[in-house]
Amino acid sequence: MIVVGIDIGGTKCAVSLGDVTDATYEIFVKMPVRQTRDYTVQGMLEQCVKDIQSCIAERPDSPPVAVGISCGGPLDSRHGLILSPPNLPGWDSVPIRDFIASRTGLPTWLCNDANAGALAEWHYGAGKGCDSMVFLTFGTGLGAGLILDGRLYVGANDMAGEVGHIRLAPTGPPGYGKKGSFEGFCSGGGIALQAQAHAREWLAEGKKTLLCTDESTITAISARTVGEAAQQGDPLAVSIMTTVGRKLGLGLSVIMDILNPERIIIGGIFQRSYDYIWPEASRVLAAESLALNAEACTVMPAALKENIGDVSALISAYYHSKKEWQ
Ligand code: BGC
Ligand code: NA
Repeated sequence: MIVVGIDIGGTKCAVSLGDVTDATYEIFVKMPVRQTRDYTVQGMLEQCVKDIQSCIAERPDSPPVAVGISCGGPLDSRHGLILSPPNLPGWDSVPIRDFIASRTGLPTWLCNDANAGALAEWHYGAGKGCDSMVFLTFGTGLGAGLILDGRLYVGANDMAGEVGHIRLAPTGPPGYGKKGSFEGFCSGGGIALQAQAHAREWLAEGKKTLLCTDESTITAISARTVGEAAQQGDPLAVSIMTTVGRKLGLGLSVIMDILNPERIIIGGIFQRSYDYIWPEASRVLAAESLALNAEACTVMPAALKENIGDVSALISAYYHSKKEWQ
């Protein structure tokens, strides 16, 4: 089925055109990635329509039959509304589905990014052949998509899998405006905040780190620079990733003990910094979860790597069209 995908992340938005089936996908056209901060909400929607038209013009022999939009929640897929995602400031009650549908004349679907990611990894990635699996985004935000007994589970009002909101500790970096939440510890912004706090102590003790030279450079520390410094063996960066792994292991044990999935697949930062996060996460996970749950479940990095956003958006169009969902 030839479809258009719109992938809206915390910082960027990208339109693609591709062919998806149950077992395969092919991306025909990928438009340039747009930074959401460069646009107003209305401006971004207009840009998406232009990008869809460009895709169609580039492949006149492959007209799309539907559009899938993958976006961070909370959102209301039934009414096609982006509600007020914590990671997309200003995107409040945006009727994106009807806007795109009316401007393109194509049936359009809106899907939570983690749910769409779960569909993508389930069909084409590390979750192939699983009956029960959980996909976790670990990027700007932390969300889960749940495939349970062979179908996507969205819950009563699309809020299933909002695991980033779970509190793992009484204090800690905020996620969803809540200190000590799973997203606070396990997200790009959360890693940066934890690293900045530790760097301050580190410098006060007169120790050196690749992350910063003095107080004035502390705020430039990001999850990416922590990942890069860990790769170069920087002890502070490695210890931060270990702390992140400890919290991830705890969060995973909660998910595992509730759902008993066959597989948990984690994308984003986990996939990029697997060697530094996983050892401690797996140690804590083994200690915290029921042995029978841990035995049944394999934790793996996402297989779709940098393509996952586009494939998520494309497969959400395919999945919802096929299912004629809602
Ligand atoms: C949102 C989730 C989303 C996740 C990843 C969280 O902040 O609440 O809905 O899946 O970020 O984008
Ligand atoms: Na979800």
